[in-house]
Amino acid sequence: MQIRVRSGGHDYEGLSYVSQVPFVILDLFNLCEISVDVEKKSAWVQAGSTIGQLYYKIAEKSGTLGFPAGLCPTVGVGGHFSGGGYGTLLRKYGLAADNIIDARMVDVNGRILDRSSMGEDLFWAIRGGGGASFGVILAWKIQLVAVPEKVTVFTIDRTLEQDAINIVHRWQYVAHKFDKNLFIRIYLGRVKSSQDGGRTIRALFNSLFLGSVETLLPLMKESFPELGLQREDCTEMRWIESILYFSGFPTESRDVLLNRTQPNVRHFKAKSDYVQKPISTNGLKGMWKLLLGEEAEDASMILSPYGGRMDEISEYTIPFPHRAGNLYKIHYLVNWDEEEASQRYINWIRRLYNYMAPYVSKFPRTAYINYRDLDIGVNNKGNTSYAQASIWGRKYFKNNFDRLVQVKIKVDPANFFRNEQSIPPFLSCWNNNGKWIHRETKCFSLFNMYSNKLFVD
Ligand SMILES: Cc1cc2nc3c(=O)[nH]c(=O)nc-3n(C[C@H](O)[C@H](O)[C@H](O)COP(=O)(O)OP(=O)(O)OC[C@H]3O[C@@H](n4cnc5c(N)ncnc54)[C@H](O)[C@@H]3O)c2cc1C
Ligand SMILES: *[C@@H]1O[C@H](CO)[C@@H](O)[C@H](O)[C@H]1NC(C)=O
Repeated sequence: MQIRVRSGGHDYEGLSYVSQVPFVILDLFNLCEISVDVEKKSAWVQAGSTIGQLYYKIAEKSGTLGFPAGLCPTVGVGGHFSGGGYGTLLRKYGLAADNIIDARMVDVNGRILDRSSMGEDLFWAIRGGGGASFGVILAWKIQLVAVPEKVTVFTIDRTLEQDAINIVHRWQYVAHKFDKNLFIRIYLGRVKSSQDGGRTIRALFNSLFLGSVETLLPLMKESFPELGLQREDCTEMRWIESILYFSGFPTESRDVLLNRTQPNVRHFKAKSDYVQKPISTNGLKGMWKLLLGEEAEDASMILSPYGGRMDEISEYTIPFPHRAGNLYKIHYLVNWDEEEASQRYINWIRRLYNYMAPYVSKFPRTAYINYRDLDIGVNNKGNTSYAQASIWGRKYFKNNFDRLVQVKIKVDPANFFRNEQSIPPFLSCWNNNGKWIHRETKCFSLFNMYSNKLFVD
């Protein structure tokens, strides 16, 4: 039997609770204790907690501490932190995984390890390499971050008729260079046009600023005047209220953050991309055309700006490699209700993804592991190969994939913890003819010996 570990159950491909072979679910949802230490600005969070529960507990203790994780309160920290985890504080503080300082996990031999007993390699691997390949994470110790007493939020919409193309085009040049305290993402989707009732595309500019309206207005005038932000577009609130605001809840009652049930569950397919050069207006027009299509009634693209803190962290610090050089990330999503129509919608989002190929990162075309997508490659059934796993592995991890493989060889050589996109426990080596051959641990020691150069006859 295989084992599937579930914390919040939000895996986009259901890998925490679906398998083609007989399996056991280890569901951690009862493991949801959270203890916040205000003085040390840290917290222990059990893996089955949701980020909503975590935000609630932090805010209960302090109005000026926060944590840089995701926007949707029902996401579980077990999967989310082990795949990176980002939200509106990304430009100021990086990812959730960048702010983990210790962890407790069970390894394949049933031992309970912490940072010092697991060693820095394994501790490195579980902060962004996906939890499912290495063991069962029981809890994280995290560094909390400072947030001001009052933050400012706004959401401004612009349709095609209101020059959305040029404003989005401009955003690509400035959003990653803004002051670190300013995060403006764009939410693109189809709406009815107010002019003729036909279809149009709307760009929502959705923002968190870590400061007051007084500071924000001149900053916006200087760095992004094209958006035309006015004082009346802005609302000042506590950081915890901004969490409710971004997840679409009324800001009055925090209790909803404790509710683990995701509202409005529907069929969906999602994908991700990283953009390293601004897309031309012609390129954007082609995107619009696809978003106006029949299947795109409930589709969206979310553009999340990088830069700031993300540029300062090296791409090797943790397995998550998408750092300096990335302007923004795209999240593609399509929702639908009728099960029979699934293939049509999935085909549509694949068409959109194909269309985007010239405009996004290449060699490899990178992707975010927390937006799990089995289209980009899966392991072979049974025992996979390094070559096969590299197809998806390099997209999620770039060159960090090899180090993840080395850790896997060390901690789970028999590949007990595995799924369609788990790290394989063997490296391949080139022989002299340049062909791939598979070796197990033997190859690994060669790899070390020749410090990353492999010579195998
Ligand atoms: C509605 C929604 C909103 C989202 N919003 C954001 C967002 O704002 N920012 C962002 O970065 N991501 C976001 N995501 C993606 C999210 O980060 C990932 O889906 C994440 O992996 C979910 O973690 P989970 O614990 O809920 O999922 P699960 O399905 O429980 O787990 C995901 C993967 O991690 C493994 N795993 C889970 N727990 C453990 C553990 N304790 N030990 C070892 N392995 C484990 C599972 O086996 C599985 O492979 C969102 C997802 C959804 C569905
Ligand atoms: C939790 O959220 C779900 C989905 O929105 C809702 O159906 C349920 O009533 C909520 N539970 C509580 C206790 O509020």
